Amino acid sequence: MTASEPSGPAPSEAPAAVPLSQANRAASVGQKVRVRGWVHRTRSSGGICFLILRDASGQMQVTAKRDTLGPETFSKTEKALVESALIVEGTVAADKRAPGGHELRADRVEVVHAAENFPIFTGQTEDFLLDHRHLAVRTREMVATARVKSEVLRAARALLDGDGYWEVTPPILSGNAAEGGSEAFELDYFGTKAYLGQTAQLYLEALIYPLEKVYAVTPSFRAEKSRTPRHLTEFTHLEAELAWAGLRENLDIQEKLVTGILHQVAERRAEDLQLLGRDPKELLAIEPPFERIRYEKALEVLQGKGFDLKWGSDLATAEERALTLERTAPIFVTHFPKELKAFYMLQDPDDPRTVLGADLLGPEGYGEIIGGSCRETDITRTVERLEAMGIPRAPYDWYLDLRRYGSVPHAGFGMGIERVVRWIARREHIRDTTPFPRTPSRLLP
Ligand code: 4AD
Ligand code: MG
Repeated sequence: MTASEPSGPAPSEAPAAVPLSQANRAASVGQKVRVRGWVHRTRSSGGICFLILRDASGQMQVTAKRDTLGPETFSKTEKALVESALIVEGTVAADKRAPGGHELRADRVEVVHAAENFPIFTGQTEDFLLDHRHLAVRTREMVATARVKSEVLRAARALLDGDGYWEVTPPILSGNAAEGGSEAFELDYFGTKAYLGQTAQLYLEALIYPLEKVYAVTPSFRAEKSRTPRHLTEFTHLEAELAWAGLRENLDIQEKLVTGILHQVAERRAEDLQLLGRDPKELLAIEPPFERIRYEKALEVLQGKGFDLKWGSDLATAEERALTLERTAPIFVTHFPKELKAFYMLQDPDDPRTVLGADLLGPEGYGEIIGGSCRETDITRTVERLEAMGIPRAPYDWYLDLRRYGSVPHAGFGMGIERVVRWIARREHIRDTTPFPRTPSRLLP
């Protein structure tokens, strides 16, 4: 301890700090507490300083008096700018004017760090905020979104764990580009070409033989220059793979997963959702089954809305938006033309122009949140699809082995966590669902 620090008990003797949300309630009135946090607002007049302190749990007003703290500590407290870090000990008192109804009357303040002028305040441009994202992550909407995202992941894991899935850890670095070479980031790997993973799917497929039901949460990378409000170059991918499953089972688990996520987030993060402009009731109202329409039918609907589309046209951002704008619940689009989808998808025996796969589109215009399919199990047809798509076979030799030793029907899907959060948390742009977004023009901070 240096001479300039306020006197008081040594850290080991100090009472344990409590969260501000715990200090800021009726049960704490009259108690002596120790809290730690950051200055959210500060004003001072006539020997009294009013601070709003923020920590991860909430906020609380602190009043610090010159008479109690002594001139030196009071002066430091009064000069502590927004985002300065403080430890405060004092007594909780009821105060109707204070946020939460209570204030902490300080008898000891330690300015752990006196912040410089914080550059983030209202009215700044989007670009400025993105350049200062390492600081902007402290703003209320970013904090609420981060908590919603954490809850989405927690809910998804709980649901899959409860359903008998094993969480596994596939690699991110790979010698092949599973979803198509043009959209893979390439890098030099000790003299050979490697790619950043676009999907863990092929590895999950290998793991269904010993484990049957598996899932992974990994970063996935797409070298897409698409500057849309729903594309990132790095996103959080939740993928699951299920042995002995067909299209029905695949869609059933997706519905169950999405509904489980929506309900858990609505129940546990209601306040955060409201701050973000989402009424939790809207999420609680969503129940399975989700409507399932074929690609062909989706084309008709879109043609009716004036889109110039024919068999084989892909459904991009604008099409998905139009399909889902007036919906309140997600919808599956199934049976896409095989040319639009990856080599591993199983062709529909009843209509071999199409594959037994589905995209799950979020409502209100948000569009695709999940892509999934049944996988081709036959080695000859898999090789044919690789060739038809002009994909070199060598990096997939190991994958073809999976069709040599006990190949069984199986299916799986990949959910874009940021896409789900964008919908749930009503974010205009997907970059606001992740603390450090990676887009074609942004690698820093
Ligand atoms: O539809 P995709 O490309 O499917 C796959 O990668 C499959 N191999 C998944 C599987 O079956 N295991 O991607 C799956 C999901 C999309 O539905 C979308 O939610 C998200 O990943 N996604 C993106 N999210 C943000 N930015 C991007 N550029 C994304 N590309 C895909
Ligand atoms: Mg897709």
